[in-house]
Amino acid sequence: MTHQVRAVVARGKGAPVSLETIVVPDPGPGEALVKVEACGVCHTDLHYREGGVNDDFPFLLGHEAAGVVEAVGEGVTDVAPGDFVILNWRAVCGQCRACQRGRPWYCFDTHNAKQRMTLTDGTDLSPALGIGAFAEKTLVAAGQCTKVDRAASAAAAGLLGCGVMAGIGAAINTGRVGRGDTVAVIGCGGVGDAAVVGSNLAGAARIIAVDIDDRKLETARKLGATHTVNSKESDPVEAIRDLTGGFGADVVIEAVGRPETYRQAFYARDLAGTVVLVGVPTPEMKLELPLLDVFGRGGALKSSWYGDCLPSRDFPMLIDLYLQGRLNLDAFVTETIALDEVEKAFERMHHGDVLRSVVVL
Ligand SMILES: NC(=O)c1ccc[n+]([C@@H]2O[C@H](COP(=O)([O-])OP(=O)(O)OC[C@H]3O[C@@H](n4cnc5c(N)ncnc54)[C@H](O)[C@@H]3O)[C@@H](O)[C@H]2O)c1
Ligand SMILES: [Zn+2]
Ligand SMILES: [Zn+2]
Repeated sequence: MTHQVRAVVARGKGAPVSLETIVVPDPGPGEALVKVEACGVCHTDLHYREGGVNDDFPFLLGHEAAGVVEAVGEGVTDVAPGDFVILNWRAVCGQCRACQRGRPWYCFDTHNAKQRMTLTDGTDLSPALGIGAFAEKTLVAAGQCTKVDRAASAAAAGLLGCGVMAGIGAAINTGRVGRGDTVAVIGCGGVGDAAVVGSNLAGAARIIAVDIDDRKLETARKLGATHTVNSKESDPVEAIRDLTGGFGADVVIEAVGRPETYRQAFYARDLAGTVVLVGVPTPEMKLELPLLDVFGRGGALKSSWYGDCLPSRDFPMLIDLYLQGRLNLDAFVTETIALDEVEKAFERMHHGDVLRSVVVL
């Protein structure tokens, strides 16, 4: 059997997205059909629409989602129909060399659904990050579904599926921020703000938020930043050093994805400190640093894939913190919108007006 549902499709490079009817197959072995309840609009969706990821148009956009499992295929035991789940884009395989070495958050062979969703004329769709959740229903690998407490709001829970998890994980999992640490976060959009929140959860003593937009700095402060620096007005490296006894921060999280902000992060950390790159650069970007500084400043230069998260470990834990009032996921939801308003949401995102617009179905 198949299901015909409404969904947001990007048909060609730079063209506005359109609301279309798509065909979603029933789940085969290892797959799950999910009735989507909410899906956040992430920068990566816009990136797909602009052809910045690859040329496999048409794309089925949307990947920060929560919903309810409607049906599962043969052999699926971890989730069942009726489960409230957050979708993840790194369903670990359990067998690759990273998984075998006990580091599944690095899994090199993550899973997606095997069957394709299509347009009504049979054209295959490419789901963004293997999810495609700006749709009433979507088909994913069962491992992409992580069951969490139904008491959470779908709009807030879905955000853990991408940007918010990436930011929290960049601080907690990749940066290993600990009690008493000083942290600087460069770029305070949804991801950077989540890194602020993660640093706060981990007990950081000082959290310095850096951005070029005062509106973003204000939000970062509300979410737990103890200090803010507008890097258009003052040199962020000097400002961060001034705020950390002249030394630099223990952990600096780069959440923009540009060479100049990476260089700021590199020089704004203390000796033997850690730089975490969670912002995603584009292919033409190059970084030049004196090799002697790389050696002489010591410490760790790390990248954070999806916050080095393990969905089955991190999603239920973070949802519990949310339900206990210790993690304010609602603060990331600037507005809720309908499925046909994604194009407008891209516009608002482009102008820096929102942390997250969330499609609620
Ligand atoms: N590593 C991952 O797994 C992962 C997951 C999701 C998103 N990301 C990436 O994280 C980055 C941030 O995503 P987002 O959703 O928060 O985007 P966003 O556009 O909401 O936020 C970017 C922020 O950076 C600020 N900024 C821009 N240029 C700056 C500069 N020169 N100095 C300081 N601040 C500057 C902007 O004002 C904005 O507040 C993107 O590159 C995105 O692709 C990575
Ligand atoms: Zn995303
Ligand atoms: Zn693996």
